[in-house]
Amino acid sequence: MKIIIINGPNLNLLGTREPAIYGKKTFEEYFEFLQMEFPGITLHYFQSNHEGELIDKLHEVGFTYNGIVLNAGAFSHTSIALADAIAAIEAPVVEVHISNVYAREPFRHRSLLAAQSMGCIVGLGLMGYQLAIEFLVAG
Ligand code: DQA
Repeated sequence: MKIIIINGPNLNLLGTREPAIYGKKTFEEYFEFLQMEFPGITLHYFQSNHEGELIDKLHEVGFTYNGIVLNAGAFSHTSIALADAIAAIEAPVVEVHISNVYAREPFRHRSLLAAQSMGCIVGLGLMGYQLAIEFLVAG
């Protein structure tokens, strides 16, 4: 079983970026934990700050992977192109947000990706990624 986590803009700065909101752990540290939690799964990780690269990655993995965990960062609130990419591929996508976007600024309350995704996990910190993988593994 192959699952990929795709993180969007500014999520490369987890650990140092606004730690009161996003925590103090780097994603690389958390990814090591995930790999230990799911030893039977081929788990990949990709991060980009560029919308087009995120779309290219969705196209690349979207017909061969069993699931995609996507935190598109601020693009979640703005990108019709990413929504179209999710609609175009076959792999199920679970949208994750580390912070509770509904408790933050109004512009974060709408996700253009949510309607194209299987479901969304919001506000549960990094644990949201683990829960998303568990859902995808359960099939
Ligand atoms: C985020 C929430 C977005 O609103 C924000 O732009 C991010 C991170 C989250 O994981 O909580 O970059 O997706």
